Amino acid sequence: MGSSLEATSFSFPEYALSWNGQRLPVVGLGTASDPVGGSYLLTKLAILEAIKLGYRHFDTASLYGTELPLGEAIIEAISIGLIKSRDELFITSKLWCTDAYGELVLPGLRRSLQYLKLEYLDLYLIHWPISLRKGIEGVSGDTEYLMFPMDFSSVWVAMEDCQRLGLTKSIGLSNFTCKKVADILAIAKIPPAVNQVEFNPLWKQKKLREFCHSNGILLSAYSPLGAIGTSWGSNRVLECQVLKEIAKAKGKTVAQVCLRWAYEQGVSIVVKSFNGERMKQNLEIFNWSLSEDELKKIDDIPQSRGCQAEDFISKDGPFKTLEELWDGEI
Ligand SMILES: NC(=O)c1ccc[n+]([C@@H]2O[C@H](COP(=O)([O-])OP(=O)(O)OC[C@H]3O[C@@H](n4cnc5c(N)ncnc54)[C@H](OP(=O)(O)O)[C@@H]3O)[C@@H](O)[C@H]2O)c1
Repeated sequence: MGSSLEATSFSFPEYALSWNGQRLPVVGLGTASDPVGGSYLLTKLAILEAIKLGYRHFDTASLYGTELPLGEAIIEAISIGLIKSRDELFITSKLWCTDAYGELVLPGLRRSLQYLKLEYLDLYLIHWPISLRKGIEGVSGDTEYLMFPMDFSSVWVAMEDCQRLGLTKSIGLSNFTCKKVADILAIAKIPPAVNQVEFNPLWKQKKLREFCHSNGILLSAYSPLGAIGTSWGSNRVLECQVLKEIAKAKGKTVAQVCLRWAYEQGVSIVVKSFNGERMKQNLEIFNWSLSEDELKKIDDIPQSRGCQAEDFISKDGPFKTLEELWDGEI
């Protein structure tokens, strides 16, 4: 990581969210590391380096344990002049499943804001479409009897209240299928602005992307590099032969091909790196493009979901099979 902390003048494309026109930078920095929480100091330094490189969107979640270092990094970034105010950043966080009950949504958001030392979020997402028993930590197959169907109505109304109170500028979903997005749309007074899901050349989510797009919901890509090096991902994306050949021919890295491809699909991207060189590389996707032929080759890559989320499958819970959790989108 570099040592001089000068603000960069680099800026990159943004999307306008459909509900309020809020600007969301195309590439954001993910902060989920494995094991969850990781090192506080490493996370804070990585975020400062990212701000210096020009990242303005940061993705965290109550689950990740990175709200605290993100908040500290923002304070430091302002104090050393990397940014003038928090308003220059777009901060996303997520409601964890143990708080996915109507009466716990607002307290959950207030807790996140407290960790982040912020007055408001830019985007608050329902992390997964399932409720876990209040007060338990993490999720594993052993906790199968602790899973409940989420009451979409009360949870979404509470999410809308969070937005009305000005505690978040936008609200949205994560890991929601077409069917589950439609269920939310059927009850929403404020529609979700974003659905954050796994998205990369090996899992293109064509149907979901088109469905969200046609309903004014921006798809946001997580694990755009296949989450290499984590327990929820693998090297299958970065080791994909087709992508390697395209990258070689273009003089780019496979990661850059994945990120450029995602951008050309019209989705927003959250990519995690805590390494200065890779963070920089992951931003260098805007002054070149993929050819028709390359797009066709990527289109032909066989599809399968990387993160199945088997931990949410239980004989006593709301989802007894992966088919049910993903409504056949597997
Ligand atoms: N909503 C959800 O349920 C959900 C689920 C998963 C993730 N997310 C969010 O999305 C973010 C990104 O997804 P992800 O972390 O799962 O996966 P990812 O961004 O696809 O991959 C992250 C991994 O790739 C490595 N990496 C980054 N840039 C690279 C490059 N240019 N070349 C080679 N390796 C590179 C990183 O290592 P280094 O740090 O060493 O560079 C890290 O091990 C998360 O951090 C989180 O904020 C959300």
